[in-house]
Amino acid sequence: MLSGVKPTGSPHIGNYFGAMRQFVQLQDKFEKVFVFIADYHALNFIKDAELMRENIFNLAVDYLALGLDPKRVIFYQQSKISAHTELAWIFNTLTSLGYLKRAHVYKDAKEKGKENELSIGDFNYPILMASDILLYDADVVPVGKDQKQHLEMTRDIAEKFNSTFKIEIFKLPEPYILSDTEVVPGTDGRKMSKSYGNTIPLFAEKDEIAKTVMKIVTDSEGEIPVNVYNIHKLLLPQEKLDKIYSEHRGQYKFLKEALIEDLENFIAPMREKRKEILQNKEFVYKTLEEGATVARELANKKMVEVRKAIGVCLDTRS
Ligand code: ADP
Ligand code: TRP
Repeated sequence: MLSGVKPTGSPHIGNYFGAMRQFVQLQDKFEKVFVFIADYHALNFIKDAELMRENIFNLAVDYLALGLDPKRVIFYQQSKISAHTELAWIFNTLTSLGYLKRAHVYKDAKEKGKENELSIGDFNYPILMASDILLYDADVVPVGKDQKQHLEMTRDIAEKFNSTFKIEIFKLPEPYILSDTEVVPGTDGRKMSKSYGNTIPLFAEKDEIAKTVMKIVTDSEGEIPVNVYNIHKLLLPQEKLDKIYSEHRGQYKFLKEALIEDLENFIAPMREKRKEILQNKEFVYKTLEEGATVARELANKKMVEVRKAIGVCLDTRS
């Protein structure tokens, strides 16, 4: 299993229930698991070295705090393995302009009349992603629904390479679409999203939790504050939840306070674990370095096969 995560800044509970938690759970289901920080993908929209460093480091700490186990998972930064970008170049030469223009990123830009402003990095995004995956012979790639097209393109690129060079170098990966049954609503009832400013941060301190919960919009006239209930639902078993909401009908303040308590109980252990990890930055650096060492070795082996297949090696040595 292999997946990549972009270092985009502090996660919220929507990211946790929609994606992060599932990654961590999947580490127990597969024999070999690769999780990497897609920093070269993020370079398309982060052009600030300090912010990039911060985001990469924080993402690593976040995942370790959630229980990603570096003994079981090969955890690394994409930029540390130059084979990702080398293979992307090779795939560039096999992919037509017309084909890449079918990608969502391009289509979205075109619809807005901005296709000429799209960077080549954004345009080539699916190609780098194909390299990330094919380099390690991944069988299963867990991603959100929005990434399904990229997975299809990865399969096409693998087939194109294999048929062009008449050798089965690349395995066709299967997408594993993360269940999106739990679209977590934000404090205003819309999908929780950084871009809407309606998030509850995953590692929030208790006063921040309280402040955010107090902001939850409760303009409904019913007995149940729907926006509070829908967030609370993530944390409690249905029966317990219904009991509280029926016993305290219309008591918005009480129900918000109950939500603050339950969020605190849920967040506190992860938040404390995160702080503990922050005490030992060396551990974080070392984990990523060790992950990169293992990944690099596998990637380099694959690249030897690839270079042979395309004919850039003059003899069989490299
Ligand atoms: P944001 O919308 O806050 O910028 P991202 O687009 O970076 O979040 O999402 C990162 C991952 O978290 C994706 O896999 C996405 O499906 C998941 N995710 C984001 N928001 C939610 C949500 N409200 N409910 C469920 N999953 C979410
Ligand atoms: N494109 C993915 C996203 O936006 C991140 C990603 C990059 C990825 N390379 C990958 C995911 C390879 C899975 C496999 O979420």
